Amino acid sequence: MLEHLTEFIGRTHLVVLHFPIALLIVAALIELSRALTPRIQRRAAEPFRPGITAITLVAIALLSTAYAVVSGLILGFDEPAKVDLHRIFGIATGVLVLALCVSMLAALRATSRTPALIYLALLGISAVVVGYTGHLGGNLTHGTGFITRPLAHIFNREPAAADPIPIATLNPADFALSQAQLDTYLDTIQPIFDNHCIECHGAEKAENDVRLDAIEYVLDPTLEILVHGDADASEIVYLIELPTGDPDIMPPEDDADPLNPDQIEAIRAWVESLGS
Ligand code: HEC
Repeated sequence: MLEHLTEFIGRTHLVVLHFPIALLIVAALIELSRALTPRIQRRAAEPFRPGITAITLVAIALLSTAYAVVSGLILGFDEPAKVDLHRIFGIATGVLVLALCVSMLAALRATSRTPALIYLALLGISAVVVGYTGHLGGNLTHGTGFITRPLAHIFNREPAAADPIPIATLNPADFALSQAQLDTYLDTIQPIFDNHCIECHGAEKAENDVRLDAIEYVLDPTLEILVHGDADASEIVYLIELPTGDPDIMPPEDDADPLNPDQIEAIRAWVESLGS
């Protein structure tokens, strides 16, 4: 019962996290525009004071940040090291927003300019840090490069076909393969990738732009994950053969079923076979 409740709270992280991001950025923009407004429009002798709108937004940001930090810590409690950076930035956001609130209260009463400057600086830093934290979190849920991948295609690289080539129309010669090598791939290798890799290396989510859901991606020369006929020089073989416990091993230990020795050997043998 308690366990399910904490699990629920952990998952609400994915909803609540949007509040601090939007609120802090909007509050920063509002205060920036107020600070830049010519002083004549404010009473000339008065130092800059936090505005009522920004105060409201920052207050709600404090509550939602506190909730996002706690629920995030619960959600990522038994997650592997890959959430660490996001976690550190999330906690940093919490500390920053707390400091921001203190500086805001100080700036409300201050007679000198310094507290207002500290308040504005902290507001700006908080808005940037919370945005970056959100970006790191997005990478966790969607895979790195999820948002920017379409841009890469617009600007320079060959657009990768969104849909794999239908198997019936695959021509081994297009990939410098023999029919037998293609058949081995389709019968033995692709099923391994399907079961152990494509949740992170597929069309939806392609970590490091690596897709393993079809042969044309696996052999994509721009990725340089595989050297025809040289398993020892192939990154893909290197990564699956890493000893248990190595943080770089593929598939990552905490998130997917490990490969068994036969599967590892099958991939190695297939890569080796490509030389001939
Ligand atoms: C749970 C998600 C997940 C699964 C499952 C997974 N990977 Fe990965 N993979 C990643 C992440 C995350 C990275 C990026 C690692 C980094 O940048 O340090 C990555 C990177 C890679 C890379 C590129 C490394 C580089 O330096 O560019 C290769 C190759 C790779 N994985 C192969 C595989 C293979 C083969 C499998 C299945 C046997 C697999 N992965 C399963 C998450 C996964």
